[in-house]
Amino acid sequence: MIGVPPARPIRARMDATIREADRLRWSLMWKRFMETLHEGGMRALWFKILGETVYRRLLLLERSFDEPIPEIRSRLPIIIQGLGATDTEEYLRFRPGTTRAELRRRFEAKHRCFVARYQGCLVGCSWVAATHAWSYYLSHELVLGADELYVYDTFTHPHCRDRGVASAIGVEILRHFRGSGHRRIIRAISPENHASLQAASKSGYRPYGTIGYVGIGPWRKHFLRLTRR
Ligand SMILES: CC(C)(COP(=O)(O)OP(=O)(O)OC[C@H]1O[C@@H](n2cnc3c(N)ncnc32)[C@H](O)[C@@H]1OP(=O)(O)O)[C@@H](O)C(=O)NCCC(=O)NCCS
Repeated sequence: MIGVPPARPIRARMDATIREADRLRWSLMWKRFMETLHEGGMRALWFKILGETVYRRLLLLERSFDEPIPEIRSRLPIIIQGLGATDTEEYLRFRPGTTRAELRRRFEAKHRCFVARYQGCLVGCSWVAATHAWSYYLSHELVLGADELYVYDTFTHPHCRDRGVASAIGVEILRHFRGSGHRRIIRAISPENHASLQAASKSGYRPYGTIGYVGIGPWRKHFLRLTRR
């Protein structure tokens, strides 16, 4: 019969495709583990494994608007501006992991996005939320005080890292919201994310607690530990 291939070769091809997909999944997982080990050592690898299973935590850092804002410039000639509604497509190409629905949700919640452009192209971004924000990493809503802001989803294009892009955006955010009536600005950063911690600490953020969860699936207990007030 024409057009109906024999059943065995189809089955064999499907099995081969499944084996190939499995092989790729394991090789990707192995690559991620080796990168974590290389960048952060055994401690980072251990928390990565815990993070994939039963335990996740982020350091909470705060910065008061009363403190002077340091002068930090990127070593790239970037322009920092707000992301407008017309830049949506460009943003989705820059951050393909963000869905259109998620982007809409952020704008509807009145979150602000600050982006850095180098030679006209997006190279960095950072979001700011007021009143509440959602942490995907912790699957948890963060409820903010009326006088608090929360910075999240900071990202620099891998080719432009370590040139002060994230720090410069961070400082621009501080300048923008200084005098807006907010008392402090907060970030949540993985203790293993040394680049992010360094960028935050340069612009005056200091740790004040830990937020996270222990558990699996729906049996998760979230916790908040404050180290100082
Ligand atoms: C974290 C991230 C946003 C930083 O962006 P960036 O533009 O490279 O940041 P900056 O250059 O402003 O600052 C990074 C600082 O960390 C330093 N740094 C980089 N890697 C480091 C490491 N492993 N250990 C210690 N410091 C490190 C850099 O030298 C730089 O410090 P300096 O300006 O004093 O030299 C970027 O690495 C990124 O997009 N990572 C993936 C997404 C992510 O982790 N986002 C943060 C979520 S909280």
